[in-house]
Amino acid sequence: EQLLNEVRQSELKTETELETYRIKFLGSKNCLKPLFAELKTVPNEQKKAVGLQINELKNEAQRIYDNFKEKLSGATDQKEVIDYSRPGEPNEIGARHPINVIRNEIISIFERIGYGVSEGPEIEDDWHNFSALNFPDEHPARDMQDTFFVEKGDEELALRTHTSSVQVRVMENSKPPIRTISPGRVYRNEAISARAHCFFHQVEGLFIDKDVSFADLKQTILYFAQEMFGKKTQIRLRPSYFPFTEPSAEVDVSCTICKGKGCNVCKYTGWLEILGCGMVDPSVLTSANIDPKEYSGFAFGMGIERIAQLKYRVNDLRLYSENDIRFLKQFKSAF
Ligand code: PHE
Repeated sequence: EQLLNEVRQSELKTETELETYRIKFLGSKNCLKPLFAELKTVPNEQKKAVGLQINELKNEAQRIYDNFKEKLSGATDQKEVIDYSRPGEPNEIGARHPINVIRNEIISIFERIGYGVSEGPEIEDDWHNFSALNFPDEHPARDMQDTFFVEKGDEELALRTHTSSVQVRVMENSKPPIRTISPGRVYRNEAISARAHCFFHQVEGLFIDKDVSFADLKQTILYFAQEMFGKKTQIRLRPSYFPFTEPSAEVDVSCTICKGKGCNVCKYTGWLEILGCGMVDPSVLTSANIDPKEYSGFAFGMGIERIAQLKYRVNDLRLYSENDIRFLKQFKSAF
């Protein structure tokens, strides 16, 4: 009875288990053999019944063995047979996010004229986001209105409002000549609408060397605009103000959409604003331990969403962060 249970209970999963089973119940020294020897001691009138039982046990073991053997070889057969004519599973290919496409394009345009890429933290201290950049203490940009403040113990930190903070870090940690661009996400405390968001992406650039002039700045921006929007693109500079540059300017490109014919994107002016720039203020250089008598430089900063908007004509900022697959799918051919 107990042996019958053993014969039946075994679950055979591998070739080795199968072989152990064979040796135990069916091999030349199997555990059923002694039973046949013991048959001699069984009284004559019971011999037949007991003999039948032992035989049944042996047959059962054989059946189970054959059964598992077939199963196992079936399994290995399936692994080996590959049907090369079967059509492949359809595999949906993703698309790069438009912000990444434009970001990569901007990086590659500036890499071609010797700029490297630098990155820094999104949670910044007051020094790198404001003070080192010549923001006076009472400057409105430090207000709760524009800046998200973060408290960490006694320290008051902020979500960076621009990637100029990264440029301060680069100036502090390296010696001129410096040629770097800083792509990254920035945050401003604004109500979310089609035209404003509480976060967006920037690429800011910094060039510091001996005898860097405003003409170098203008030519660099022209080069960028023509690489980005086409060789016929023109630029125009309007005087502006930033605490960290002097003189400062805002740059417009000739409308990439109507090509000067007039459309509602450029409000029939033929021009679109794309970036802010200027010569680095001497006090910013001094804050970063660079001698303004020896070195000068320029800086510029642009919003990636804005450039993407002009290239892809996406006029609602919210679309970039909603992860709507119907929007994202449309950038499959962009790279
Ligand atoms: N940091 C400015 C902004 O975020 C852009 C800028 C960068 C302007 C460098 C001038 C020079 O708006």
